[in-house]
Amino acid sequence: MEIFVVPTASATGSVAAGILAAVIRSKPDAVLGLATGGSPLPIYKALAGHSVDMSAVSGFALDEYVGLPAGHPESYAEVVRREVTERLQLDPAKVAVPDGSAADPEQAAADYDAAIAAAGGIDVQILGIGHNGHLAFNEPGSALDSRTRVEVLTERTRAANARYFSTPEEVPLRCITQGLGTIMEAGHLLLVVNGADKADILAAALNGPVTADCPASILQWHPHVTVVADEAAAALLAPASGQVPVRVAGAAATV
Ligand code: GLP
Repeated sequence: MEIFVVPTASATGSVAAGILAAVIRSKPDAVLGLATGGSPLPIYKALAGHSVDMSAVSGFALDEYVGLPAGHPESYAEVVRREVTERLQLDPAKVAVPDGSAADPEQAAADYDAAIAAAGGIDVQILGIGHNGHLAFNEPGSALDSRTRVEVLTERTRAANARYFSTPEEVPLRCITQGLGTIMEAGHLLLVVNGADKADILAAALNGPVTADCPASILQWHPHVTVVADEAAAALLAPASGQVPVRVAGAAATV
């Protein structure tokens, strides 16, 4: 696992975008795993500034709400369209989001898992982390080998996401999320974290035991993980022995 610590949330985006641009240059038809939430937004903004041809890139979103009307501005299909597909000028036909308005969401989830496999798997999966340690919408208690499925959102997650809706009641009760087992099959996991409010959970995920109580702790078992955190989020990480400070994007960083 490599950990880059940078001064600001915006710098997390620059560093992560640099990593993604290098991947796309070496593999123009890379398959990206696309995360929503606030943390990855600086990545997409920074990546748009790179002169790299993304016309052959494809993407799979991590998750989607179940039950929002099609075209709802806060559905992840719409967020991904606005923040990723249009910003990066990806081919919309190459960008998939779980179908949260399917008549049979369980089947839609299974089909989505199969579509990822059929695409040859995800090369780089962008991830954020929830305050309770969730990855995508894998809430605490999710099986570490879980597949893409329908899940019930915790009240904590609904409260955290209420900021995107006019009323807290509007936040859906269920979602389709890639499973932890699905996420673990990606070749490279790129976790971006910022803010002091994530410091406790980031330390628990990276330095604590691997446990379903903190789904993000499963990152410790993946062979290729890059964490990009701002100083506030990294404040409680255990100092790693034997590693030297590195300099990233012109900013002092410690590993
Ligand atoms: C959301 C998403 C996750 C995201 C997390 C943290 O609900 N489903 O994929 O990582 O919550 O979001 P944020 O980065 O806004 O804190």
